[in-house]
Amino acid sequence: MQKVIKPAKKLRGTIKIPGDKSISHRALILGALAEGVSQIENLSPAQDVRSTAKCLQSLGASIQIDESEYAKARVEGRGVGGLVAPSTNLDAGNSGTTMRLLAGVLAGYPFTATLTGDESLRKRPMKRVIEPLIQMGALVESQNGLAPLKIHGGALHNVRYELPVASSQVKSAILLAGLNACGETIVIENAPTRDHTERMLTYLEAPLRQSGRCVSIQGDSVQYRARPIKVAGDISSAAFFLAAAALVPDSKITVEDVGLNPTRTGFLDVLQEMGVPVTIQNRREVCNEPWGNITAESASLKAVTVGGALVPRMIDELPMLAVLATQAQGKTVIRDAQELRVKETDRISAVAENLKLMGAQIEAQPDGWIIQGPRKLKGARVESYGDHRIVMAFAVAGLIAEGETVIEDAEWAAISFPSFFEKLELMRA
Ligand code: S3P
Repeated sequence: MQKVIKPAKKLRGTIKIPGDKSISHRALILGALAEGVSQIENLSPAQDVRSTAKCLQSLGASIQIDESEYAKARVEGRGVGGLVAPSTNLDAGNSGTTMRLLAGVLAGYPFTATLTGDESLRKRPMKRVIEPLIQMGALVESQNGLAPLKIHGGALHNVRYELPVASSQVKSAILLAGLNACGETIVIENAPTRDHTERMLTYLEAPLRQSGRCVSIQGDSVQYRARPIKVAGDISSAAFFLAAAALVPDSKITVEDVGLNPTRTGFLDVLQEMGVPVTIQNRREVCNEPWGNITAESASLKAVTVGGALVPRMIDELPMLAVLATQAQGKTVIRDAQELRVKETDRISAVAENLKLMGAQIEAQPDGWIIQGPRKLKGARVESYGDHRIVMAFAVAGLIAEGETVIEDAEWAAISFPSFFEKLELMRA
């Protein structure tokens, strides 16, 4: 599907963003491993989350999800250690989170299961998750550390594992394996990554402990009970609307009921540093996650430098930041973001190629970009690279470009945000 984006005069409105993708994966997985029935509210409608649900169903969990955008789901838990051998391969689709978290779950089961995925996922690095699981005693077959992963799980022992890459997916995989291991499994991280797994396990009263850079889980198949889970709105989806408000003159957008977990709010900090008025109202805590309503307004933007520990706090928002930087006064430098090269596509080159087509001054670096602004963007025909976040970042770029912007294969947006284009249109004042 091609999508044509016309320039916007101004954007105004209040929207509710669908449930957070990261939290939704965890709600389904931890619900399937709980004792009793989990009622989940506001489950993400993302295709990636549906991939997790299907895999868990193949592993014997009973899951019902209604078709609404702010879906309710019911998961009948099987208890830690209660999943059953699948009769087919488990297809994680485009979803790295599905593959890596389920690899951790499967490592502790005394059967063989194969995790596979689409063309993009089969190119993404899995050694980072295979290595700690092998250290715990699982056998994982793969070709050069790529999916398909054939996991021969079984009795696991605990590890103390220092993460070589800042990855919440790897941290979560080890913690999930740890639930089924003997003794206490400890993960140490050098830069904080999203901690939704830890927060949800704590909410569920599972035996998790956190201290400084260490997080540990008591294994020995200690059981925990299901509790109702409400999923916050997805801040990574909200980011496109906040950026659009910042970029289009005379605009103001409020997104309601969004997750404000500090491991995810780097983009808000950077927007403010660029000069965007960002306000947060109705702050509250729901199911051990901070929530609030975020408002952003248009502003004249200043260049920024982003690197270090800020990068994992806004890893998925960096393509959107690159677009913002084209309109900022001065030189924006984004570094320490080499992880972008192994996301759904190589996001460093995808963003640079598309932005060059639109007339931006951008140089790709091994670990980020250097962007000189401001430059007027021109409408162009840009590629999706089969990557949802590239599609959405360039839809926003199209709002401020001269003439029409055509996005090829725009249906990829549904990987995280199926109603993105309708919602964006609603904001045109
Ligand atoms: C995710 C973690 C991040 C992020 C991805 C979702 C998660 O990946 O980019 O979109 O739900 O744990 P890494 O943990 O591999 O950095």
